[in-house]
Amino acid sequence: MADTHPLYGPDSSILITGASSGIGAALAVEVARYGGRIALFARREERLHDVAERVAAAGAESLVLAGDVRDPAQVKEAYERMVREHGAPRVAFLNAGVGDSFAIGDFKAHRVRRIFEVNIMGVAHWLEHLLPPMLKKGRGFLVGISSLAAHRGGPMAGAYSASKAALSNLLESLRVEAGPAGVSISTVEPGFVRSELTDKNKFSMPFLMETDVAAALIVDQVAEGRTMIRFPWQMAAFVKLMKHLPMSVYDRMARHIIKGAPESLKSKN
Ligand SMILES: NC(=O)c1ccc[n+]([C@@H]2O[C@H](COP(=O)([O-])OP(=O)(O)OC[C@H]3O[C@@H](n4cnc5c(N)ncnc54)[C@H](OP(=O)(O)O)[C@@H]3O)[C@@H](O)[C@H]2O)c1
Repeated sequence: MADTHPLYGPDSSILITGASSGIGAALAVEVARYGGRIALFARREERLHDVAERVAAAGAESLVLAGDVRDPAQVKEAYERMVREHGAPRVAFLNAGVGDSFAIGDFKAHRVRRIFEVNIMGVAHWLEHLLPPMLKKGRGFLVGISSLAAHRGGPMAGAYSASKAALSNLLESLRVEAGPAGVSISTVEPGFVRSELTDKNKFSMPFLMETDVAAALIVDQVAEGRTMIRFPWQMAAFVKLMKHLPMSVYDRMARHIIKGAPESLKSKN
C-alpha cells in the first residue's frame, strides 16, 4: 500500500521533466511511493517507459510524454495531454537539463546556445503553461533544478554555470511574486549527483551523492515548504565560501584546478 502524504498523495497530479534518467527518474520513483498520477517528460521514450514500469511497481499511475523542452509546440501538446489525462499538475519538477564543458580555445556560441535552450528556455516553455492555472487556483508547487554551479563561473564550465545562474535568478524573481498568490516556487541547487551527466566527468567529484538519496532529499524538502534546497551540505558550504572570495583569490584557485589538464576536464554531453 502507498505511503500517505499531504502533498504527493493519491489525488496529486505531478509532472517531472527530464524523467528518463538520473535525478528525474529517481524523483519519479520516490514520489510514486505516495501514489498519485505522475507525468514523465523527456525525449527518450523507451527510457520513459522503463521509468513508468518502476513507477507502477512503486504504486502510482504514470503518463509517458515524449518531447523536447526546446520546442514550445511539443511542450504545449504535452501539457494539454497531461491536463486531459491526469488533470492540471499540483507539483512540477522542472529538472531537464544538459551540461557541457570546454576549454577557452573551443569556445563556440552554438554550444552556449544549446545549454541555454534546454536549461533556461526549456524551463520557460513549461512555466508559460504551468503558472497561469496555479496562480488562478492559488495553489501549486513549482520546483526548478538549478545547481551549486550557479554561484561562480566554474572553470571550463562557463555556459553551464551561466545557465544555472540565470535559472536560479529567474526562479527567485518568480518566487517573490508567486508566494503571496499561494504558489510555492523552490530552487534546488545540487552539488555532484551520480547520473549520466556526471558519469561523463573525467575529474574527481567531491561529496558525490547517490541519485536516490538526492531525489529523496528533494522530495522531502519541497514538501516541508523549503524554497531553497542546497546539498550536500559540505559542497554548499564550500560554494558559499568560494562565493565570498575576492576575485583575485578565486581566479588563482580556479586556475590551479584546471592547470595543465584541459583535455581531462572536457566532458562533451
Ligand atoms: N548530476 C549532477 O551532479 C547535477 C548537479 C547539479 C544540477 N544537476 C541538474 O539536474 C538535472 C538532471 O540532471 P541529471 O544529473 O539527472 O542528468 P541526466 O541523467 O543526464 O538527466 C538529464 C535529463 O534531462 C533530459 N533532457 C535533456 N535535454 C532535454 C530536452 N531537450 N528535452 C527534454 N528533456 C531533456 C534527459 O532526457 P532525454 O535525453 O531523454 O531527453 C534526462 O532525462 C539537470 O538540470 C542538471 O543540470 C545535476
